[in-house]
Amino acid sequence: METWISLLIIIITVFHPSKNLQSNYGCSYEILLTNDRQIICTNITSSFFQYFNINVNRYHWLTCKSCNLSTITTETFHFPKNSITYLFLIDNQITSIGNNSFSKLPFLKVLNLRNNLIRTIKSDTFTGIPKLLQLDLSRNHIERLDMDIFRDLENLDILNLNQNQIRFIHRDAFTNLKNLKYLYVNRNYIATLSDNIFENLENLKILYLENNEISEISPFAFNGLHNLNYLYLNNNTITALTQYNFKPLRNLIDLQLRFNNLSIIDTSTFNGMKSIKFLYLGNNDLESIKSYGLIGLDSVEVIDFIGNKFQYFSLSTLKNMQNLSVLWLENNNINNFTIDSDTDVQRSLKVINLVENKLSHLKYKLLYKKVPQLEELWLGGNNWTCDFIIEIYDYFSNKNVSVCTANNCTGEAFKQFIDDICFEPYINETELNYDFASDCTNSICVNYFILYVISIKCCVFSTSF
Ligand SMILES: *[C@@H]1O[C@H](CO)[C@@H](O)[C@H](O)[C@H]1NC(C)=O
Ligand SMILES: *[C@@H]1O[C@H](CO)[C@@H](O)[C@H](O)[C@H]1NC(C)=O
Ligand SMILES: *[C@@H]1O[C@H](CO)[C@@H](O)[C@H](O)[C@H]1NC(C)=O
Ligand SMILES: *[C@@H]1O[C@H](CO)[C@@H](O)[C@H](O)[C@H]1NC(C)=O
Ligand SMILES: *[C@@H]1O[C@H](CO)[C@@H](O)[C@H](O)[C@H]1NC(C)=O
Ligand SMILES: *[C@@H]1O[C@H](CO)[C@@H](O)[C@H](O)[C@H]1NC(C)=O
Ligand SMILES: *[C@@H]1O[C@H](CO)[C@@H](O)[C@H](O)[C@H]1NC(C)=O
Ligand SMILES: *[C@@H]1O[C@H](CO)[C@@H](O)[C@H](O)[C@H]1NC(C)=O
Ligand SMILES: *[C@@H]1O[C@H](CO)[C@@H](O)[C@H](O)[C@H]1NC(C)=O
Ligand SMILES: *[C@@H]1O[C@H](CO)[C@@H](O)[C@H](O)[C@H]1NC(C)=O
Ligand SMILES: *[C@@H]1O[C@H](CO)[C@@H](O)[C@H](O)[C@H]1NC(C)=O
Repeated sequence: METWISLLIIIITVFHPSKNLQSNYGCSYEILLTNDRQIICTNITSSFFQYFNINVNRYHWLTCKSCNLSTITTETFHFPKNSITYLFLIDNQITSIGNNSFSKLPFLKVLNLRNNLIRTIKSDTFTGIPKLLQLDLSRNHIERLDMDIFRDLENLDILNLNQNQIRFIHRDAFTNLKNLKYLYVNRNYIATLSDNIFENLENLKILYLENNEISEISPFAFNGLHNLNYLYLNNNTITALTQYNFKPLRNLIDLQLRFNNLSIIDTSTFNGMKSIKFLYLGNNDLESIKSYGLIGLDSVEVIDFIGNKFQYFSLSTLKNMQNLSVLWLENNNINNFTIDSDTDVQRSLKVINLVENKLSHLKYKLLYKKVPQLEELWLGGNNWTCDFIIEIYDYFSNKNVSVCTANNCTGEAFKQFIDDICFEPYINETELNYDFASDCTNSICVNYFILYVISIKCCVFSTSF
């Protein structure tokens, strides 16, 4: 590995500023395999480049490692004509950036300011670098996104604001970011998504807002995001969504709302998302879906309701979802999976997961009639009786449907599952000495080595395999 790196990088020269400054800091030049030239500086301060005027003309990369750049000003990078394209200032204790600090780097495309101590960004912080494509401000201490702070960055493609302390986003914070495609705002303290805050991001594809404190999404919060494909809102405290909350997102493919506090799905909540394929609502407190709560989800393919509090779920909830293929309902409190004879036939559904619920009954014949393409039915972790689970197994065994346990879809695993239900050892102390063997002499139950088990079901079971 080390040989490989030294082959890659030929260190041309190492030099230091004038002798009267301390010598264990300075810059070195490297040539990367791509023929790009890089300057790497270590342990320098903000005023370094004023004392030492590097000819940066032929260098595209400038990296500062373990530097003390507490205050960056227009003087810090006051280079003459240069073609610096990549500026990496990671882990450098930067606390503030003055107006126009990067404006002497007109060819800058990538600016990485990760893991510093930056608290504020002003409207003149990122001026004069119109070619910038990527800006990384993650792991700083930014508290607010005020108006126009990115106004000159009209070519910006990726903006990373993860792990700051952002509580406030001005309605015009993102003005002019017409070409932004990826916006990361995970791990901040945002509590409310106000109306129109993303309005100018007309080309945004991916929006990350995970691990904030979002409890409220205003009705028009997502206005303008016509090209958004992925929206991640996991790990917030959203308690309610309003009708048509996501309507502007007509190109959204994937909506993730896991680990929130939703308890009810209101009518028309998801209406308008014409392209949605994946809807993740796992790990909320969902108990009910109002009528027409899932209306408009005609294109959805996968729905995740894992880890909610549903006590009943009706197949008719899935009306009009002609492409739905996977329905995850595990880990709820469902004791009633309702299938009515007048429910529409669902022709696309292939996987239904009902693991870890409270079911003891299921209209499995009607289910198969209504869901004729069913391939996997996951049933582990419920309250099935022995008779009933054997009936289900028998019914589906010649139907090309796999009945599955909590984590396994093989027939072997399901037989074991049936064994566990039907032969759960219960030892009655009073009858401990009673010999049951004679009750089952000519049956398969001999194979189960169960001596003191009270279970008459063993003989019924023997006909199933
Ligand atoms: C960084 O430079 C300072 C002087 O500016 C010096 O005291 C310190 O030891 C240097 N640190 C390292 C890690 O070289
Ligand atoms: C960093 O530089 C500033 C002045 O630019 C100085 O006041 C401060 O002591 C330096 N910090 C360290 C850790 O060297
Ligand atoms: C920076 O620019 C802003 C807006 O143009 C201005 O209000 C502020 O006074 C400037 N700050 C400095 C230190 O020049
Ligand atoms: C969300 O929170 C859960 C539970 O606290 C945690 O297991 C999970 O890793 C978090 N997810 C993300 C994306 O941070
Ligand atoms: C949201 O849900 C989490 C996890 O279930 C819980 O710890 C938190 O107290 C809830 N917050 C609100 C505001 O209900
Ligand atoms: C369902 O999927 C097919 C094939 O991908 C697609 O042509 C059709 O438009 C989809 N239906 C809806 C309602 O999205
Ligand atoms: C299941 O729920 C449906 C609708 O809520 C109800 O009509 C039906 O009686 C319930 N069935 C059982 C067995 O509780
Ligand atoms: C399991 O079903 C039996 C009846 O079949 C019922 O008496 C019992 O309360 C159920 N247990 C749970 C945890 O739902
Ligand atoms: C059974 O299902 C598989 C896919 O799981 C499919 O390839 C096969 O054609 C089906 N067989 C019958 C008889 O329907
Ligand atoms: C599923 O069960 C079968 C039979 O018990 C076992 O051989 C297989 O390893 C299991 N698969 C998984 C993924 O657990
Ligand atoms: C254990 O067996 C005895 C004798 O058949 C019976 O009287 C008793 O009710 C049984 N105990 C239980 C808890 O089923």
